[in-house]
Amino acid sequence: PVFVAPAMDLDMFRHPSTQGNLDILRSYGNHIIEPAEGELASHLVGKGRMEEPERIVEILETFFAQDSEKPLLGKKALVTAGPTYEKLDPVRFIGNYSSGRMGYCVAERLAELGASVTLVSGPTSLEPAVGGIDLIRVESAVEMLEACRAPFLDADITVLSAAVADYRPMEQAETKMKRETKGDFDLRLTANPDIAATLGATKRSGQRMIGFALETDRGEEEAMRKMKAKQLDAIVLNSLSDKGAGFGGTTNKVTIFDSQGRATSYPLKSKKEVAKDIVDYIIGLG
Ligand code: CTP
Repeated sequence: PVFVAPAMDLDMFRHPSTQGNLDILRSYGNHIIEPAEGELASHLVGKGRMEEPERIVEILETFFAQDSEKPLLGKKALVTAGPTYEKLDPVRFIGNYSSGRMGYCVAERLAELGASVTLVSGPTSLEPAVGGIDLIRVESAVEMLEACRAPFLDADITVLSAAVADYRPMEQAETKMKRETKGDFDLRLTANPDIAATLGATKRSGQRMIGFALETDRGEEEAMRKMKAKQLDAIVLNSLSDKGAGFGGTTNKVTIFDSQGRATSYPLKSKKEVAKDIVDYIIGLG
């Protein structure tokens, strides 16, 4: 097996030629250890820092770990991640600030521990950093639900971390809307399907489903309500009032509730570390 841990300036990393070459390496079965984000030698800030050596060693150790150290070997997992884009016309959409990072980290951790993972992702700039992940890219909530249906049937573990848009435009213009001809207008929205609730309604016993709740107030109450409504086994609450938690950033601070309402709180950590906690928690659910 060959692992590549690229490090370079952010423009160079983002360049289509670099991305294309990384895809070629992946297609040969090589493993890409994605660079981390932060300040670069050029003083620009972004993606391009070589992943921390400790983390590289950890990835290699997990890869070469004996099967006995991979508790999810033989298990199937489904993860949703990222935002959804709801089209207004060919060039505009309604979306949200989700980066998808939390969901990708969870998918990667599940794969590291031996699960075969299907990751259904809304539009993001991310690539899974470990092998064993089948990535399905979608755009809208409706597409995301359709992509989840088949993998959900035999998923032992489902983690719903996508920030699904609750509404989509009732009509999508076939051609670009023009300000001159359109003038002021009202936008009519229609509700999107609730992916978690739709899948949850057909859940078999033994299937584990975990969702997320991102709340600005009454966090615990709302998290418990959503867990029940969507028939989840546990729910991960990120509170937007905590600095460093939630959308966009690289860190998160979560509390996980089980169906009895028992809370487990974790300190502020990197999303990779939070993903480990979440996956350990899921394994603990049995
Ligand atoms: N979710 C989903 N499909 C939707 C909306 C939400 O699968 N259409 C999932 C999310 O992935 C998350 C959980 O449900 O795991 C809670 O999402 P959230 O947006 O907090 O909940 P909503 O039910 O949309 O409630 P709110 O009115 O607070 O947006």
